[in-house]
Amino acid sequence: TPPTTVDVTTTALDSTHLNGTSAETEAGLFTSDLVSPTIAASLPETYTLRSLRKSDYARGFLDCLRVLTTVGDVTEAQWDERYTWMNTQGKGGYYLLVVDDGTRIVGTGALIVERKFIHNLGIVGHIEDIAVAKDQQGKKLGLKIIQALDFIAENIGCYKSILDCSEANEGFYVKCGFKRAGLEMAHYY
Ligand code: ACO
Repeated sequence: TPPTTVDVTTTALDSTHLNGTSAETEAGLFTSDLVSPTIAASLPETYTLRSLRKSDYARGFLDCLRVLTTVGDVTEAQWDERYTWMNTQGKGGYYLLVVDDGTRIVGTGALIVERKFIHNLGIVGHIEDIAVAKDQQGKKLGLKIIQALDFIAENIGCYKSILDCSEANEGFYVKCGFKRAGLEMAHYY
């Protein structure tokens, strides 16, 4: 049987939220029903697991990603443009999760959703850009981010999730339940 999809819509952003002045109630890229309650409850008390929000520019989201690779100098205007694209044309394709420790973003991970014709209109999740702040590594945040992305993938009807990683990170993904499958090839432009 073809996988079923859940139609995911978020509450419309009002201008207050767009300004990022009411971060507690600001809608993110996806709805909170896709945030695993079990994983959220397992985090330390001040920590929150939630969808990426536009206001996360000011909460150190890009700095968190710097442990992974080069981010570059992204201005707030450039950030706004990319976030808005993900939240409009890209809607339903980008599930960016963050862990907020109460003061800043300390972990993140993304599920990029690919809708196919093959496998009865199958839906595949691509796990991308997993990062945990240096001083927060080794506390199971990475594992919990992956489990939370798996929860999203299952709930939106993915039949599998796949990812590319370095040999150095293979052990981490094995601990997360992944197994080696195939080979990555790349063409850089
Ligand atoms: N190799 C082998 N095992 C590992 C590794 C590793 N590189 N990293 C963690 N583990 C193990 C831990 O020891 C732990 O094992 P245990 O359950 O037996 O105690 C288990 O994996 C879970 O570890 P976490 O504490 O959840 O890992 P952490 O929160 O530190 O996150 C991560 C791991 C995301 C790799 C983090 O170290 C990081 O941000 N690194 C830099 C950025 C990066 O490389 N990201 C992944 C890129 S690949 C991609 O994005 C698809």
